[in-house]
Amino acid sequence: MTYDVKKYIRTDLEGFAGYSACKAPELVKTSNRIIKLDANENLYGAAPAVRQAMSAFDQYHIYPDATQFEIRRLLAEYTGVNMEQIICGAGSDQLIDLLLRLFINPGDEVINCPPTFAMYKFYTDLNRGTVVNVPRDADYNVNISGIKNALTPKTKLIFIAVPNNPTGTAISKEDIIQILDLGVPTVVDEAYYEFTGQTMISNMAKYPNLMILRTFSKWAGLAGLRVGYGLFPPVIADYLSRIKDPYSVNIAADTAVRQTMLQREYMLETVKKIVHERKRLYTELSKFSWLKPYPSAANFILCKLIKGKAKDIQQALESEGILVRCFDAPMMENCLRFSVGKPEDTDALLKALGEMGE
Ligand SMILES: Cc1ncc(COP(=O)(O)O)c(C=O)c1O
Repeated sequence: MTYDVKKYIRTDLEGFAGYSACKAPELVKTSNRIIKLDANENLYGAAPAVRQAMSAFDQYHIYPDATQFEIRRLLAEYTGVNMEQIICGAGSDQLIDLLLRLFINPGDEVINCPPTFAMYKFYTDLNRGTVVNVPRDADYNVNISGIKNALTPKTKLIFIAVPNNPTGTAISKEDIIQILDLGVPTVVDEAYYEFTGQTMISNMAKYPNLMILRTFSKWAGLAGLRVGYGLFPPVIADYLSRIKDPYSVNIAADTAVRQTMLQREYMLETVKKIVHERKRLYTELSKFSWLKPYPSAANFILCKLIKGKAKDIQQALESEGILVRCFDAPMMENCLRFSVGKPEDTDALLKALGEMGE
């Protein structure tokens, strides 16, 4: 007997494309050396105390604290926001998912400003919402009047990445306030906050529609452990804490976050070095006649190729062990994105690009 299990699957998922994630370095067979500039990680790695604490820890057989009490307490100290308003998740990806589960009935609308972080669309589609795209302008600035015009009674959420990924584009606080004044629940995704120093936290008291997402994946060198957090109005935090699965922040991640918060001055020093390096990388990339780098407020730089094919350059770099991200989508035609690493990573990237010529 044959069973057609496929016919039981949600039909709306038939065309679901999934997320195109970066390749694990161990799957790259072309070179012994790997310089990973494709996922905006912190190449200085986790704080030394994290590695020590994780190898000394002997309670891996115990479930983690379902309330994430201690890390929320440390985050309250770091952000100045009450710990009752802080929710932790398995990466900020999980918080994006939870927000969509909380707000979206089938067919409700989510305003997305492409090109932007792909997971906003991914989870909207997965949660049966309708993505309403309000494209950015040619310099990747948010189209605020476009957002106003796109609002309907079905609009439930607006997502704005500040600065934006994959373009690196900043947006002023005044512009974000114009969006908040529309009164719709708005997610300001500050995944790259530590690289900019710009935050909307001080506006939370005035705007009960403001929700802020942060992550330990970028500045804190913990991408592999998957920890993010959000700062929410009390009522939203209460709902999220009830719909969230209890153990999504595992005990290794919990241990690592505690140590990172205790050694945050060390990690913030690495952030300073990366910001410094970003300026150098931008200046040097601007010297290539065939590349157009975009200004970035994050730990990566997007470049458009004026000549040649981004895919070819990505593959040529990969053959030398340098992993970068390639985009070829509407408004992102023929683009490469380079994470900012250590000075020696910049040197290796620039040398390889220089040899590739025009
Ligand atoms: C804007 C933005 N938000 C959220 C995330 C997800 O971060 P996490 O690793 O915490 O899930 C990323 C990761 O690239 C990002 O660029």
